[in-house]
Amino acid sequence: MGSPASRRGYTMALGLDLDYLERSARGEFDLGWLRDSDSEWGVRAKPGKTGLTLRDIAIGSYGEVPDHAPLRTMAPRGSDIDPDVPDLGYTINDKSEVWSDNLLDLYEEAVSRQWSATRDIPWGDQPELDPDIEHAMCQLATVLSEVEMVASDFPAKWLWRINHDYVEAKMLHCTQVMDEARHTEVFRKRALANGGGLGRASAVVERFLQLILDAQSCDEGSARASCSPCSAPARPSPPHRWSSKSSGSACRTRPGMRPAARFSGGSRVANGAAARAGDR
Ligand SMILES: [Fe+2]
Repeated sequence: MGSPASRRGYTMALGLDLDYLERSARGEFDLGWLRDSDSEWGVRAKPGKTGLTLRDIAIGSYGEVPDHAPLRTMAPRGSDIDPDVPDLGYTINDKSEVWSDNLLDLYEEAVSRQWSATRDIPWGDQPELDPDIEHAMCQLATVLSEVEMVASDFPAKWLWRINHDYVEAKMLHCTQVMDEARHTEVFRKRALANGGGLGRASAVVERFLQLILDAQSCDEGSARASCSPCSAPARPSPPHRWSSKSSGSACRTRPGMRPAARFSGGSRVANGAAARAGDR
């Protein structure tokens, strides 16, 4: 942290009580402020048969999600909040923009269904493939490891904009970010695990990913993301000798993707995340 002077400046910038800190450093603690609380002290959430879920702790005022967030802070919903907390600049501050009635359950499902690309795939048991097949598989893995990460980057664009009062919506988006990171992981591992390696990253795919990243709404980006360029091979440039006759549909719904309309009471942002949750 630097010199005592710079430490003092840093401390003052954060608005800490220097006198209290100095008394604490001498061992003169006063923890009375911990008991000076207006929150619902004494709450005891009861776990259900599957454990302590988000729905189990959505009780009392802690479970009251405001239609419009009164503050733009990271203060946990239901906590006591200092009157001089800074404005952190969230831009999505309305429940209707991010919430879904089953959002808490979707988060629990996403967490419970996590798997490990390191442990759960028998990487050492891959059969030796014909070189042409291995090349094709590696090229497919290259493209997929390329496009999967955009499905992390895109929801991450919204994470920091969503007000902390809707923290469960942010948490669900985090599962999406993690899930797509694992998809990138598994395809990168596939390319490198069977005697091949990474293939070509094409300009066509990169332009498509740029379209997704540049989307102005979560719905728009989700719709673009469901239009996979994987079925429309990029036109190779010499000296590659891929077939120029290959041309597939540039828009295809991913297997297992559920329509957003199935998610009850869904907002535009939550429906985007929920729809992608069906792609796990
Ligand atoms: Fe994915």
